[in-house]
Amino acid sequence: MPRIDLEKCIKCMKCVRDCPSDAIDIDKGTINDTCIHCGHCVAICPECTVFPDEGDIIKLQTTSVSSNDFKKLSASIRTCRSYKDREVDEKTLLSLVENMKHYPSASNARPLEITIVRSKEQVQKLNDQTAQQLIKAIGFITSPIIMPILQLLAPKLNLPRLNAYKKQFIARQSPGSSQVCHHAPSVLIFHAPVTKYGMADADANIWASYTSIYANTLGLGSCFNGFIVTAMKRSKAMRSKFSIPARHQVYASLLIGHPKVKYTNEAGRAKPSVELI
Ligand SMILES: Cc1cc2nc3c(=O)[nH]c(=O)nc-3n(C[C@H](O)[C@H](O)[C@H](O)COP(=O)(O)O)c2cc1C
Repeated sequence: MPRIDLEKCIKCMKCVRDCPSDAIDIDKGTINDTCIHCGHCVAICPECTVFPDEGDIIKLQTTSVSSNDFKKLSASIRTCRSYKDREVDEKTLLSLVENMKHYPSASNARPLEITIVRSKEQVQKLNDQTAQQLIKAIGFITSPIIMPILQLLAPKLNLPRLNAYKKQFIARQSPGSSQVCHHAPSVLIFHAPVTKYGMADADANIWASYTSIYANTLGLGSCFNGFIVTAMKRSKAMRSKFSIPARHQVYASLLIGHPKVKYTNEAGRAKPSVELI
């Protein structure tokens, strides 16, 4: 629970007004247990008299990132599927994780844990096992018996395309190939305990998105990896092989490495449709 130092508090009431759960009694200097640990009271106090659950009060530094900078950065960040044969050093990987303390989490639950796969052998294993899982899964729904039934039940599912994709995927599989991990030197796996009402899935994708942006500012490339998430979700054995704790589920995965390619042009995409109501 945050702690208020009443001796120094000037009763400006900023923390009281900003608290999303009306948890602060500033006369008594107490915070009740409806507190959702968002830390807004710590962040807003001009006198630094509200202390966080953990760590010290750290003054925010002004940032010089303009909206134009952000727009340019967004346009320049692309999925990287071609990496240099060079490790991402441990300090950099840990700094990616360290910065996650700033990223939002539903109800401030912060259930996510990160596993980083970073030896060549392990990344290759992750690649191969994911590929096997995918081939098995697509193989089932595109099998001669299941495919016609599924096609009737779900005509919108483009099974012939999926089947062609499976064939291409299998054709490209060979020892040492890296269709899933693209020879990335490190793979971040975001996982959390399975709960009925939690939103770890959303948290994981938000944290992976922020991480991808941060990695790019460090000159690294990244690639969200839905293949790994799908395979790991399906296979308890795979989760166990990659030391994902029992009762945890995998919610996001990000390849990280030094990019081999550099893009010079924007993608040229339509903006999403919008309705102002
Ligand atoms: C949730 C998610 C999962 C993705 N999974 C994969 C994947 O498994 N393999 C892959 O090569 N790319 C994957 N991508 C990358 C997208 O295919 C990519 O964003 C798309 O090709 C657009 O390219 P861009 O990111 O360079 O703009 C994924 C992207 C997202 C957002």
